Amino acid sequence: MKTFPLKYHKTSEYLDYFNPKDWFNFLLEELNPTYSISRTIARIASIHLETKDTKTLVLRVNKNKLKFQAGQYLPVTVEINGKRITRYYSISSAPFETDIRITVKRQKAGLVSNFVHENLQLGDFVELGAPQGSFVLPEVLPSKFLFVVGGSGITPVYSILKTLQNQNFAGSVKLLYFSRIKEEIIFFSELNSLRTKFPSLDVEFLLTDEDSPGFRTGFFTREMLLELAPDFLERLTYLCGPGTLQESVKAIIPSEKLISENFQPFLKSSSKKDSKQVEVTLTKSHKTLLLNGEKTLLEELEDNGVYPQSGCRMGICHTCACTKKSGVVTNLQEGSESESGEETIQLCLSRAEENLELDI
Ligand SMILES: Cc1cc2nc3c(=O)[nH]c(=O)nc-3n(C[C@H](O)[C@H](O)[C@H](O)COP(=O)(O)OP(=O)(O)OC[C@H]3O[C@@H](n4cnc5c(N)ncnc54)[C@H](O)[C@@H]3O)c2cc1C
Ligand code: FES
Repeated sequence: MKTFPLKYHKTSEYLDYFNPKDWFNFLLEELNPTYSISRTIARIASIHLETKDTKTLVLRVNKNKLKFQAGQYLPVTVEINGKRITRYYSISSAPFETDIRITVKRQKAGLVSNFVHENLQLGDFVELGAPQGSFVLPEVLPSKFLFVVGGSGITPVYSILKTLQNQNFAGSVKLLYFSRIKEEIIFFSELNSLRTKFPSLDVEFLLTDEDSPGFRTGFFTREMLLELAPDFLERLTYLCGPGTLQESVKAIIPSEKLISENFQPFLKSSSKKDSKQVEVTLTKSHKTLLLNGEKTLLEELEDNGVYPQSGCRMGICHTCACTKKSGVVTNLQEGSESESGEETIQLCLSRAEENLELDI
């Protein structure tokens, strides 16, 4: 919303600032945030502790109904110390259910996930963006599915499984769900109760870091896959989990049979050529900063109090894309250095190698 100017020189200036929709919206939001006509605001209707470090927020949205497909995610914006910060979260509820649910695992030193766990209370508000993503069911369902999931990767898969059950899917659905230890299994009782009413569903809980009676132990391997899903080549596979699991599965299951989603930045670690600091000039904001060139540009700018627009923070949404006027960056996803001329870069994937000029 524009700032209301105190002094006008021309009527057109006044009209330009007096945007009736913005003012109406502002007044409505002052009455109650959920009355907003331009933003999707959700009130936290309940909070469930799923595991020691994972919570589900049940969200009531102000719009009629937020349309989404099972498996999609949405941007969630919270205000932390006066700054609006956005992260993406998969929707763990299914489209036929009344409320929107997100299930957030606390990450060590993570800004938003810790804020969700420590600060958000019943009745608080969060802002939601449009649901998106292609980790969804195909229009024509295959006869067999395989879901390979690690940790919080269960969230979009749980939504898909509930949807398949709701559609009375009669084919075969196999879920291989990896957790470090038994206590970290998210939706353990929900998945057990889902399989009692969904005979097509076969769930295998696997623990990587402990032996526990009734549970299989081990990491994903070809031998394990051949034992648990010998017909894997006949199945459409959905994969959601950490980078190591992604790598192991992608090495075995052909890409045309695989739909995958990653919650974590998967950056190639290559060390910087030297430990010299670099000068980064922000041409639009008329600032010059000294950065270490050790983390991504997005992280280092934020560490220095500059908050460029960002969303997924892992190269998916392109919200952080900006023009590099000059200087060399390393693309940490590809592990390659840029040319020194003008080009578009993604701040969340780029590390500064030498002095830079950025158009922000
Ligand atoms: C499409 C998509 C869907 C997602 N769905 C979910 C979901 O359903 N549930 C959920 O809990 N998270 C989900 N995430 C991850 C989520 O968006 C955040 O990245 C996560 O909550 C961490 O944010 P933060 O602000 O706490 O950490 P940040 O402050 O952004 O990061 C702090 C540190 O944690 C590391 N880190 C960041 N994210 C992760 C991660 N996911 N795993 C391990 N280390 C990490 C960073 O490298 C950094 O060192 C999803 C991400 C994407 C892209
Ligand atoms: S924040 Fe999404 S691509 Fe960088």
